[in-house]
Amino acid sequence: MSNLIITGGSRLCGIIEVPGAKNSVLPVLAATLLNKGTSILENCPELDDVTTMLEILGALGCGIRRKGSRIEVDASQLTASSIPEELAKKMRSSIIILGSLLARCGEAYLSYPGGCEIGMRPIDMHLKALMQMGAQIDGISDGMLRCRAGKLTGCEILLDYPSVGATENIMLAASLAEGETIIQNAAKEPEIDDLQAFLRKMGINVSGAGTGVIRIQGAREIKGEPVHRIIPDRIVTGTYLAAAAATGGSLVVTNVIYDHVGSVLYCLKRCGCRIKNYSGNVIALESSGNLAALDLVRTSPYPGFPTDMQPQLVALLSKCKGTSVVVETVFENRFRYTEQLMKLGADISIQGRAAIIRGVDKLRGAQLEARDLRGGAALVIGALAAEGTSSISGVGYIDRGYERMEKVLAGVGANIKRVEA
Ligand code: EPZ
Repeated sequence: MSNLIITGGSRLCGIIEVPGAKNSVLPVLAATLLNKGTSILENCPELDDVTTMLEILGALGCGIRRKGSRIEVDASQLTASSIPEELAKKMRSSIIILGSLLARCGEAYLSYPGGCEIGMRPIDMHLKALMQMGAQIDGISDGMLRCRAGKLTGCEILLDYPSVGATENIMLAASLAEGETIIQNAAKEPEIDDLQAFLRKMGINVSGAGTGVIRIQGAREIKGEPVHRIIPDRIVTGTYLAAAAATGGSLVVTNVIYDHVGSVLYCLKRCGCRIKNYSGNVIALESSGNLAALDLVRTSPYPGFPTDMQPQLVALLSKCKGTSVVVETVFENRFRYTEQLMKLGADISIQGRAAIIRGVDKLRGAQLEARDLRGGAALVIGALAAEGTSSISGVGYIDRGYERMEKVLAGVGANIKRVEA
């Protein structure tokens, strides 16, 4: 793994073009398995998780062509229905393939996705819904998922929690099921909307994304040439804006969707940043660097404050005057990175689901270790806002969600470089 070496103190100033969304391209790539033709995706981010997903699709028999941010997937002939274990283990979100593989092939075999740094990540809602649609699932005891289904049957499903992944898996399974599927308490994230848009381009009759109730009429077969542009990454947008806020910078981000980051912008404005919206797809942020604490922020499903921005916000609040409280309601273990922030001199105490952050005047460079994707991004923000030099190991985690982060940040004035460990 490589390390990032960051010398703090530079104000981030300049323009960043935001790439396509990791959490949209992954389910859309899974959806290409439904199509007995070639799907063309544009504005795909160049990330390790996308590479892993393409390796999985290739192992299933898909033809893959990738040129920059354009990806073509030819799924006309699938030759396998099991996901190689070493690939499934590389990316736990490969579970998102289950629904479309089961719908297309009538069976799916993959290793049971484990937990990760931020939580146990159970998939009970995914499995319960697929069994409701007629799938037989066994083998969980030995760490493998063995799923079989003749023709899946559409039905009404109520999710106990608006799970993003479960909503996506059901949408994909329902696309080739017999009859109508209705998902009650569906996730409302923009990535669900993007998946619906792609399914419609494949001729699927699906509606309701963003409303909490999604209806899908199953098709007999899908054979088309859909072309789809992936939406911008709202978490990458928020991450770079938070970094500019923490360094007293002046940053413009382009190729964004303003409404997708409304709750993040609300918090940055309440801290004291000045934010301008230009035609909905360009955002300008100005920060004095002397920002105010936030009395309470709670993460929640969209359109609430996103859990994927919680670590980055806490890093920013570490230098805001006053005491802030951030409550993490989505994942049960998403504060581990704060141990690393405290090496920079941050004053954070964790009480159950709440982080209490007392702003300090100065953070000082330190040796840090990234252990998950968004926690790693938080360490970068802390190091940029600190005096002196920090080194961050475990950069592979950051590479899963951010395209060449060190190049992007250096391009707007950060003193940052990647060195091989
Ligand atoms: C997606 O994960 C995202 N990943 C996550 O982003 C994001 O944090 C999460 O949605 C919430 O927005 C991708 O889209 C690839 P969930 P997912 O199912 O689908 C519990 C990042 O940093 N749950 O909405 O796994 C679960 O444990 C990643 O980009 C069950 O209990 O999230 C969690 O507490 C991190 N049973 C809550 O629901 C289930 O069957 C929300 O999880 C499924 C989920």
